[in-house]
Amino acid sequence: MFTRFSNKQTTQKSIAGEEIPLPEVKKDSHTSIEKALLERRSVRSYTDQAIELVEVGQLLWAAQGVNRTGGYRTAPSAGALYPLEIYLLVGKAEGLSAGLYHYLPEYHALKIIQAGDKRVALSEAALNQEAIKEAPVVIVITAIYQRTKRKYGQRGEQYVHMEVGSATQNVYLQAISLGLGTVFIGAFYDDQVQAVLGLPKEEIPLCLMPVGDPAE
Ligand SMILES: Cc1cc2nc3c(=O)[nH]c(=O)nc-3n(C[C@H](O)[C@H](O)[C@H](O)COP(=O)(O)O)c2cc1C
Repeated sequence: MFTRFSNKQTTQKSIAGEEIPLPEVKKDSHTSIEKALLERRSVRSYTDQAIELVEVGQLLWAAQGVNRTGGYRTAPSAGALYPLEIYLLVGKAEGLSAGLYHYLPEYHALKIIQAGDKRVALSEAALNQEAIKEAPVVIVITAIYQRTKRKYGQRGEQYVHMEVGSATQNVYLQAISLGLGTVFIGAFYDDQVQAVLGLPKEEIPLCLMPVGDPAE
């Protein structure tokens, strides 16, 4: 049993299964938003240094974590319907074995989905982009369009695409603050990424973000 994440850490709820609680999120740093914006760039080459669990937690929270009571998140969402799902493909991370994990925003925890290093397979699904093979971890953002289209119809599709922009910019800025580098990878075959991750057909991959210690 562990604490359901909230800013005040007041609510408690237990969840079953192989969930891994992430370290409590840091809500301050010495990097100003202006410095992070100034330094934001795409980084495609990384050292072989493993990512720390505290860094994993911080990056996933930036992407789609809960930041206040009511389950609201770090990125805006049309109608607060939250169509995005966040996965972490791990090659080398402290405290996590290689595998595919699903981020649970409500609990600020990870749930193991598949064991084993899938980075080469994921890179093959993305035109063999080296950054995916090299990075210690890859954040994968998918969307279940129906969550938003149910309320907003066809326009919901545009909303989902707008939302992935917010989530990815959050990850870029958080990475800068941690001294890490990342890149938005959009060039991949949807069906191949779905096959590597074992996603259902209604869940569409929108973005891959390798993250690591910059070698550049
Ligand atoms: C929707 C989208 C898709 C992208 N796809 C890729 C990609 O597949 N591979 C890659 O290396 N960079 C990709 N990028 C990153 C851009 O190449 C990069 O943002 C651009 O060259 C500007 O450089 P900067 O991010 O360092 O400012 C993508 C960016 C966006 C917004």
